[in-house]
Amino acid sequence: MVEPSRPRRIAVVLAAGKGTRMRSERPKVLHSVGGRSMLEWVLETARGAGCEQILVVVGHGAEEVKRHICGVDIGKAGADIGNARADIEWVEQREQLGTGHALAQAAPFIEGEATLLVLSGDVPLVTPETLERLATAAEGRWGAAAVAELEEPGTLGRVLTDDAGNFVRIVEFADASPEELAVQRVNAGLYAFSAPSIFEGLQRLDTANAQGEIYLTDALGQAAAAGEDVALHLLPDFSEAFGINDRKNLATVHRALLDRHLQRLMAAGVTILEPARTSIEPTVAVGPETVIHPEVWLAGDTSVGPGCVLHQGVHITSSHIEGGAEIKPYSILDHAEVAKDCIVGPFARLRPGSVLQRGARVGNFVETKQTELGAGSKVSHLTYLGDATVGDNANIGAGVVTCNYDGVNKHRTEIGDEAFVGSDTMLVAPVSIGDEATTAAGSTITENVPPGALAVGRSRQRIIPDWARRRRRKA
Ligand code: UD1
Ligand code: CA
Repeated sequence: MVEPSRPRRIAVVLAAGKGTRMRSERPKVLHSVGGRSMLEWVLETARGAGCEQILVVVGHGAEEVKRHICGVDIGKAGADIGNARADIEWVEQREQLGTGHALAQAAPFIEGEATLLVLSGDVPLVTPETLERLATAAEGRWGAAAVAELEEPGTLGRVLTDDAGNFVRIVEFADASPEELAVQRVNAGLYAFSAPSIFEGLQRLDTANAQGEIYLTDALGQAAAAGEDVALHLLPDFSEAFGINDRKNLATVHRALLDRHLQRLMAAGVTILEPARTSIEPTVAVGPETVIHPEVWLAGDTSVGPGCVLHQGVHITSSHIEGGAEIKPYSILDHAEVAKDCIVGPFARLRPGSVLQRGARVGNFVETKQTELGAGSKVSHLTYLGDATVGDNANIGAGVVTCNYDGVNKHRTEIGDEAFVGSDTMLVAPVSIGDEATTAAGSTITENVPPGALAVGRSRQRIIPDWARRRRRKA
């Protein structure tokens, strides 16, 4: 809701830079962190802060960036970004001459008075609450900058203040003296400015610095020197200031994004035994009383119900697991559905289109694909079920294979309720096994088996007595 009293809020996201230190062909802001691109995180935050207009300054790899944001499949959790994509306006910065130059390119797109929230496309941990506070801090002032106190300030710009703690200027890492580098207060690269006055300030900037760039940060120092009121907003969570300039930063921010989600899940009643060894993307929902062992990886549009146990090494992508299910170690699930109280694994692989009904069991070295397994049915060992439908309470023996592919087409296998498929049965599809039917172990089944029947599809066993002794004698 937009309160009529507050100024219009416009976000400008700076995302045109080359990101040289990433050593990458891809535009930096498209690198994935915590399950989606840096830029998507920043856009979501801008939206969360109630911005009426969102401008993204693009330059290096502009087409790739636009294509990614407009065409990306961002799944359920990102649907809001998707719907609102249309309200992004793209601003071209043809040459990347620095952050001050980047912001200046947005001037023609902004009419009248507004609070301008400036975000960096490579600072994805910032929250909507912080932007809200920053916007409020800037109201009635020239502007406000978000700062953090870091033990290891690294290459971030240092924020210099006078003895009274008033803002003086920001000095970039490349330009700082040893004394200035000792300052631990850093510029997070997030600002709120009053428009249009910020744009007048940008016109006075030059490139007289170590990097030969037009620094946005210089505009703040010049304003302060001219007696303008520039507020500093100290970030309560200093990690929000983490920017990504190289792959090492990427790993740090990735971990921070995942940790935030793990903290939320634990607060909501999920046991995560070793958070530092667990990866759960922020798009994943997990119910209370679920226990998650180390080395579990949950990604994409995934939900896990309450009271589940996910054992070590479980890897799940875009799948739905209902309550009370147990997924044993080193099982891999991809676009699968697992109903209540199922037991899967260890070492099971459920490929896309696998659906397990209530209480079904899939054991070790079993692979399923486009297969529905009915309630209470069991597939315990060394089996491949592809393009199959299995009824309720069926038993699939060890080493059963649906021969679903004839080299040209895929064919379906239907297995009825309470059927018993003997070990090492080859089911040559298309084929059906009726309710309560049985196949003898080692059978190759090429014809449909009626309900209740026994199918034996193997050569009869011969016994040759005394064979071993006779062979020895021959030799
Ligand atoms: C910038 C700040 C620094 C701050 C840090 C926080 C300046 C001069 N310095 O440094 O004080 O501590 O962010 O992370 O602003 N960009 C453009 N066009 C350009 C140059 C950059 O759009 O011509 C974009 C980049 O894509 C990036 C953002 O602006 O998303 C920041 O640029 P970057 O070069 O990464 O600045 P830093 O050196 O990190
Ligand atoms: Ca940066």
